[in-house]
Amino acid sequence: MNLETIVFENKTLKIIDQKQLPLRLVYMELKTLQDVLQAIKKLHVRGAPAIGITAAYGFYLHLLQLEKTQALSKTAVMKAAKELAAARPTAVNLSWAVDEMYRVYRHFKSAKQALFENLEKKALAIHRQDKETCRKIGDSGSALIPQQANILTHCNAGALATGGMGTALSVVYRSVESGKKIHVFVDETRPVGQGARLTYWELKEAGVPATLISDNMAGALMKDNKIDAVIVGADRIAGNGDVANKIGTYSLAVLAGYHKIPFYVAAPLSSFDRNLQHGGLIPIETRGAGEILDLWGIPDSAGYRVYNPAFDVTPCTLITNIITEKGLLEKPFKENIDHLFI
Ligand code: MRU
Repeated sequence: MNLETIVFENKTLKIIDQKQLPLRLVYMELKTLQDVLQAIKKLHVRGAPAIGITAAYGFYLHLLQLEKTQALSKTAVMKAAKELAAARPTAVNLSWAVDEMYRVYRHFKSAKQALFENLEKKALAIHRQDKETCRKIGDSGSALIPQQANILTHCNAGALATGGMGTALSVVYRSVESGKKIHVFVDETRPVGQGARLTYWELKEAGVPATLISDNMAGALMKDNKIDAVIVGADRIAGNGDVANKIGTYSLAVLAGYHKIPFYVAAPLSSFDRNLQHGGLIPIETRGAGEILDLWGIPDSAGYRVYNPAFDVTPCTLITNIITEKGLLEKPFKENIDHLFI
């Protein structure tokens, strides 16, 4: 899968406008800090690693503009960093990438030329490393997949969500490349439809056999022995291995546990947040009512009370393995996560 979700060339940042998929594959240019913030908040770019990479480039471009307008002050830079990191609260990759960029600013702030060279270098490195990381996750994870398998996935943890070939879907792609016969059941992923709009499209582009289902069909498929493994991505993994991911992930983990089907989470080290002891401490983004009502043509004026958390937390006890670029994590997750960061 060679899809470039984020392109940075000649100081120009372009992203695939994911709101237009699957009907149109269009790139949109993000020129200003506001463009970047809006693209992240409104899901033109989404997926934990992808928003981190976009924010890193956005930070660099914004500082270049501040310099041009002679407004490059510590206050202005801090404000931008805060706004970027807060654009979406759950995926820790976003604040992780902004922190990495801010560290470069702090280090080189009194030497302008070195500052801009190093900011650009850092953003490119974050992007490049994510590409490599995805491939390594795919290699680690494909060892878990049998020669022939029906895999269920939720949301989009593919090329569209990362700087490379994805996390959960990288396991699929690398398994297919190694000659395995893989078929993917794709959860529609209500309310925003990342599965229906993005994952199904991405798998089709890659030539991987896939079947779209609505979210409430997963249990029946498991009961009928039609699923061999569930693989999902992560937005944030707490120190004990609890995982925040797209709303609906927890239900799948419970179902997989009941049916004794392996439940795998694929994620880079940048998705771990060891400052949080358990998943209950992960901030969960709640989004607008329109994401639930629009599909049915119900206007705001109808006055429906709506609850729309974008993510849920799956307890580590329901997870079989966490697949990282440094290999497979087994239980007990807390100890093994600690070892990973030594
Ligand atoms: O709201 P989204 O589309 O940004 O949510 C994305 C997910 O939940 C993904 O599974 C997660 O970010 C992992 S992406 C490799």
